[in-house]
Amino acid sequence: MKALILSGGKGTRLRPITHTSAKQLIPVANKPILFYAIEAIRDAGITDIGIIVGDTAAEVKAAVADGARFGVQVTYLYQEEPLGLAHAVLIAKEFLGDEPFVMYLGDNLVKGGISNLVEQFKQRSPNSQILLARVRDPGQFGVAELRDATVVRLEEKPAHPRSDLALVGVYMFDKNIHAAVRAIRPSKRGELEITDAIQWLIDSGLKVLPHIVTGWWKDTGRLEDMLEANRMMLDTYETDVQGDVDEHSRVEFKVVVEKGAVIRHSTIRGPAAIGSGARITNSYIGPFTSISAGTQVINSEIEHSIILENCLIEDVGIKIEDSLIGRNAEVKKLNEKPRVYRLLLGDNSKVGLP
Ligand code: TTP
Repeated sequence: MKALILSGGKGTRLRPITHTSAKQLIPVANKPILFYAIEAIRDAGITDIGIIVGDTAAEVKAAVADGARFGVQVTYLYQEEPLGLAHAVLIAKEFLGDEPFVMYLGDNLVKGGISNLVEQFKQRSPNSQILLARVRDPGQFGVAELRDATVVRLEEKPAHPRSDLALVGVYMFDKNIHAAVRAIRPSKRGELEITDAIQWLIDSGLKVLPHIVTGWWKDTGRLEDMLEANRMMLDTYETDVQGDVDEHSRVEFKVVVEKGAVIRHSTIRGPAAIGSGARITNSYIGPFTSISAGTQVINSEIEHSIILENCLIEDVGIKIEDSLIGRNAEVKKLNEKPRVYRLLLGDNSKVGLP
């Protein structure tokens, strides 16, 4: 079996971060989301992985390289434009050949991995197996209708959902999907939809079986989801302090301080992760916060946030909360008169002031 990870796309819902970086490389508990996908696939015994890349190809390649450090072999497949999930399958045909494969959306997280799902797919041997989860707002998702434990209908973001079963971003296919993605036409939003391709399988009399996910999963396409994923992953960590924490600092409950991090006169209340080379001085880092490598926090308080690499957060008088701050950003109090806000913000930035 092979695997296809989708790591292209536009990422419009996470702008401005995605103007310059791949959303799949945003760290959740200080590890890029994409790495969780690669590890889950490897743990399911699949080592031949194709990764679909788009505008952020260079960054993804720099982070994952040939996959050797994960124990897998990666082939990059360039998608010129994000023309849909089924389009990604279309351009991956040569890589996939006629082998069955797992398709994994590179911004999705499934707690507990996918080993049992891959095993189930091999045993039941349908033409496709899709993951479904019960959700409160099915209209936001691809929605499945089941009859006699098989999938009989799929609709993308329906106005009147026929069930509360939403498609989760992991799919398994045999070679029939290639005929399906060739047969379908772009949807109203101009994409080749994977839901239409799966519907084509059903309409052609092929077998599409559901697997209903009961554990935690997340599509991290929006800020709230990214923060929730960070919260969930941090909570699974145990305390591991490798960095340098002085005697004036307190480290409480599930805190990871990587080697090379320096904590001075500060309180870190977990679950939290502090990356290598980060410096936390005279500050409070509260629950569900990830501080990436090289970031400095001075005289400030941060909670329930993800701060990427090499930022400077200094003398911020009010606690920073529910925030995602991109690489090399600076947030700092200006000690000058008159008191002003001085902003240099990327397109689509959001600033919440007290
Ligand atoms: P989406 O989250 O559906 O799309 P997007 O990443 O463009 O984000 P937004 O809706 O905020 O603009 O994509 C799911 C995953 O699949 C994500 O990892 C990006 C990837 N993808 C591709 O690789 N190629 C594509 O053509 C599309 C549509 C998505």
